[in-house]
Amino acid sequence: MIVEQPPASVPDFAALRSCWHPVAYADALTDVPLRVRLLGEDLVLWRDSAGVAHALRDLCIHRGTALSLGRVIGDRIMCPYHGWQYRGDGICTHIPQLEDPGKVPPKARVDAFTALERYGHIWVALDAPRYELPDMPEFSDPDWVVVKAGPYAWNSDASRQVENFTDFGHFPWVHPGLLGDPERPVVPDYSVTIDGHVLRYDIVRPEAPSNDDFPVFANETKQAPERRSRYQLHLPYTILLRLGWGGQKGMVYFFASQPVDEDHCVGYVTIARNYDREQPDSVLQNFEDTIFEQDRLVVESQRPERVPFDLAAEMHLKFDAVAINYRKAMREQGLAKRP
Ligand code: FES
Ligand SMILES: [Fe+2]
Repeated sequence: MIVEQPPASVPDFAALRSCWHPVAYADALTDVPLRVRLLGEDLVLWRDSAGVAHALRDLCIHRGTALSLGRVIGDRIMCPYHGWQYRGDGICTHIPQLEDPGKVPPKARVDAFTALERYGHIWVALDAPRYELPDMPEFSDPDWVVVKAGPYAWNSDASRQVENFTDFGHFPWVHPGLLGDPERPVVPDYSVTIDGHVLRYDIVRPEAPSNDDFPVFANETKQAPERRSRYQLHLPYTILLRLGWGGQKGMVYFFASQPVDEDHCVGYVTIARNYDREQPDSVLQNFEDTIFEQDRLVVESQRPERVPFDLAAEMHLKFDAVAINYRKAMREQGLAKRP
């Protein structure tokens, strides 16, 4: 007798609306409106005359034109088709075809979403956000330099991209000589604690000796070097990773993935370090471009496209403790459920 398995839990887009998501690097949003896609919705981002970022549904209420094709007039965005103007709260305040253009019917408005500029990103929550963004004091500390890489647009769900970023078992295989040493593939023991929507885990693990092509890490040991990694995974799709090598030198990776729709995501990675301050940004950016391209090929091949959040859907071993706890926490927080 064949027993039908129920479909596995998947990211719940309705619940994910009330989380902050990155939608652009802040410097990509100039005085020209920018179209972005989040959780299957098209949004227009724009800055008012004070530079404050706003996010509206990218759909004029009049005839459904994309507002992102329009332009900003002072504190309003103007639709390209008939020139209606909208404020940051989505209310239309100007209809030029009317005798009195300011006499706007109350129905003339578009949905407005909460936008926030922080850590060099524009963040949007489609409903009131339930979690705070992580604290990253290094990013405003003058002793640390910050480099941004990407963004990395992949044909996969954001859950797959996040899980890949934090999966240490793959380092020697997908990134030999860059992030891992194929001669030392064993994942040391570690444990994960779940604190609400934040997973924490530390690991000291083998790494490849420093690479002449990409001298990005502060590891001076040539023989069997190790890296200390302290992770915080903030559900649903943000990771804060602090790296050290036993001395004062440190690196902070901040990774966040934008859930564009069910099988598209965009990864943003910013990296702070307190050493090699004069090194050109391009060294680290080329390194990340290489790593993310190696990962993309693997992750885009994964099926199903979205992480199945029930443990029975895949095979997990002890060293997969992050993946196991990520699935558990996403379900507990109501961010993943059976369709
Ligand atoms: S469609 Fe936007 S003003 Fe007419
Ligand atoms: Fe990787």
